[in-house]
Amino acid sequence: MKIFIDSDNIEEIKKYISWGVCDGVTTNPTTFYKSGIVGGVGGIKKRVADISGLIPGLPLSVEVTSEMPEEIIKQAREYSAWADDIVIKIPVTDSKGNSMLGAIKQLVQEGVVVNVTLVMNFNQAILAAKAISSGMEKLAIRKNHFVSIFAGRITEEQGVERAFQVIKETRAWLDFHKYKNVEIIIASIRNPENIEYFSKTGGHAMTIPPDAIAKALLSARTKEGVAKFMEDAKKLN
Ligand code: G3P
Repeated sequence: MKIFIDSDNIEEIKKYISWGVCDGVTTNPTTFYKSGIVGGVGGIKKRVADISGLIPGLPLSVEVTSEMPEEIIKQAREYSAWADDIVIKIPVTDSKGNSMLGAIKQLVQEGVVVNVTLVMNFNQAILAAKAISSGMEKLAIRKNHFVSIFAGRITEEQGVERAFQVIKETRAWLDFHKYKNVEIIIASIRNPENIEYFSKTGGHAMTIPPDAIAKALLSARTKEGVAKFMEDAKKLN
C-alpha cells in the first residue's frame, strides 16, 4: 500500500520523504487555506511547484476550485501542465449533486491523470471507475488514475465498519472486472487507529495527514524499552 502525505506543508513532506514513507502527496483547497496560501491560483501554483520539486516521479494531487464542468476542464488542463505527475482532483459531483463524470471522462481522454474525490459510497466509486475507464478506451498509453474514498467522513456518518466495507467491496469489484488502471486512495484518515484498520481493506494507497503518521510511529513501550536499554548499556562501561 502506497502512503501519500495529505498536506502541502513543505517541512512535513520533506520529513516523511526522509523517512522513506512518502509515495506521493495530496492537497485540497482546505489544506492550502490552513497553510496560509494566498494569491489564488498563483499562490497554489507556487506551492505546487515547491512540492513537485521534492517528489519527482511521484503523484501530486491538486484539486479544481470550480463546480462548472467547462471551468473544471479548463483548470485541469492548466494545472496539469504545471509539472510532471500532477494529478487533478475532481469531486464526483458538485455541491448540488450534479454529475462531474462527463468532465472526468473528457479529461482522461485528453491524457490528464485524475483523482476522483469526495467519494462516499460504493456506487459513486464504481461509476467514477467506469467514467475513467471509458475515457481511456482509445488511448494507446494507459496511466493509472485514482478514486479517493473518504473513510473518515463515511465513518463519521455511518460507522467505521461501513467505511471498511465500501473500500473493500470497491477493491473486489475493480479486481473482478479487471480495472487495472484505477487505484483506490483511502482518504480522510483521522488517527493511527484508522491507519491500521483501513490498511486491511485492500485500498492501493492511503493518504495520511502528517500528525497521524507521526503518532502512528509512537509507542510508550518502545520509548520505555529504549530508555532501559540505554541505561543498562551505560552500566556495561
Ligand atoms: O485527500 C483529502 C482528504 O483526505 C481530506 O479529508 O475529511 O480531512 O477533509 P478530510
